[in-house]
Amino acid sequence: MTTDAITSPQRGQEKSAWWRAVLGEYPTGVCLVASRGEADEPIGMVVGSFVAVSEEPPLIGFFAGRDSRTLPELVSTGRFSASVLGADDEAFCRAFASKAPDRWERRPFVDTPTGAPRLADAVAWFDASIESTQPYGDHVFIVGRVHDFGAGAGGAEMPLLFRRAGYGSFSAPGGTYDARAFIERLRWASMAEREIESLSTELGVEVAINTQLGDSVVTLASVALDSTVSTFDNVGAAHPWAAPISPVFAAWAPTARRHAWEEASRHLTGSVDRALIEDQLRGVRDRGYAIAGDQALTDRFLGLVRGHRTDRDAYARVWAEIAASRRRLEDGDGVHWDEVAVVQVPVFDEEGDVVMSIYAIGWQRSASPHSSERMVERMRTAAGRISARIAASRTGG
Ligand SMILES: Cc1cc2nc3c(=O)[nH]c(=O)nc-3n(C[C@H](O)[C@H](O)[C@H](O)COP(=O)(O)O)c2cc1C
Repeated sequence: MTTDAITSPQRGQEKSAWWRAVLGEYPTGVCLVASRGEADEPIGMVVGSFVAVSEEPPLIGFFAGRDSRTLPELVSTGRFSASVLGADDEAFCRAFASKAPDRWERRPFVDTPTGAPRLADAVAWFDASIESTQPYGDHVFIVGRVHDFGAGAGGAEMPLLFRRAGYGSFSAPGGTYDARAFIERLRWASMAEREIESLSTELGVEVAINTQLGDSVVTLASVALDSTVSTFDNVGAAHPWAAPISPVFAAWAPTARRHAWEEASRHLTGSVDRALIEDQLRGVRDRGYAIAGDQALTDRFLGLVRGHRTDRDAYARVWAEIAASRRRLEDGDGVHWDEVAVVQVPVFDEEGDVVMSIYAIGWQRSASPHSSERMVERMRTAAGRISARIAASRTGG
């Protein structure tokens, strides 16, 4: 046993500090619980002890210190709202913890149906009437029956987290990948370099080669528009592999991998339109390649990737808009080529797995459907040649 490294003090202030230090290791979200006093003034406090108590009936609760001045006021109103704070709310949270005089003016509030103020853009919120109060030691457990609840910002915003007197949030998925696998794929991409240079010149588009590693999509090579020289600025740039981005890595993948792609999107944006995504994948498989629309949106997306952003909210917003813009790309009459900004063609290995994709950015809006299809054929021919070269290198040919 090596427990003597960290021993618990038995008495007084030291014991209390130790209790708090050890408990401080446990991370929590942060909620503002609030109501309105007799003169209609807002009252409330931030708590880390918010908890879901029961679904049927819907009950929520939190623990308030017995010495809290807010507690008796709040209990006497018979109701409370709970607003889950977002990742950007650290200063707002500190304002409440320090009772800053302007704390209620810092953010927009709206009243719940029972008349308690809640944050207008809370990550999630609940409106409850007080069901019971029960003292436990130096705290009181307040349980509320939920009458209304909702999620703000389309569920896209990430909650604020608290641990050891410090604040944080979730980071975006993706961004890390297996370096050895990356190096092997870089070798394959180098075999494709000449192909993508001539593609870029002939088609007048920027061309990149991407690969999927774990939960990331990583750029292996890219050729800027009007350049015959590979630019390596973007090599290694990674972004989350989450629906509806980079569907070529999902369209021919086993079910489990496809689901991982869909689930990654749900974690990122809070929801996922499965019918739309299944439709998208069917389209990709039928056509043999993927399309994406809206140049301005594509530019914003590429800005995040090339800026090596790991800010989950920024990704989530672009993801949600890209999902919405997909609906305009295709209908019963086929592809609307004048809406297309990106074409993505798979590169298969000899087992039929998609190991890389050729990604053409800045598709010519003026191109006719016929010439667009010819350009895609040109890309697919290049992808076929790259596949053959990879297969040959693996068999030592
Ligand atoms: C992140 C965080 C979590 C907190 N969690 C709780 C909690 O669960 N219960 C509680 O009574 N106070 C909690 N507090 C402290 C209260 O926000 C508040 O400062 C304290 O109750 C004293 O205010 P009052 O006397 O006006 O009620 C927390 C403070 C912070 C910053």
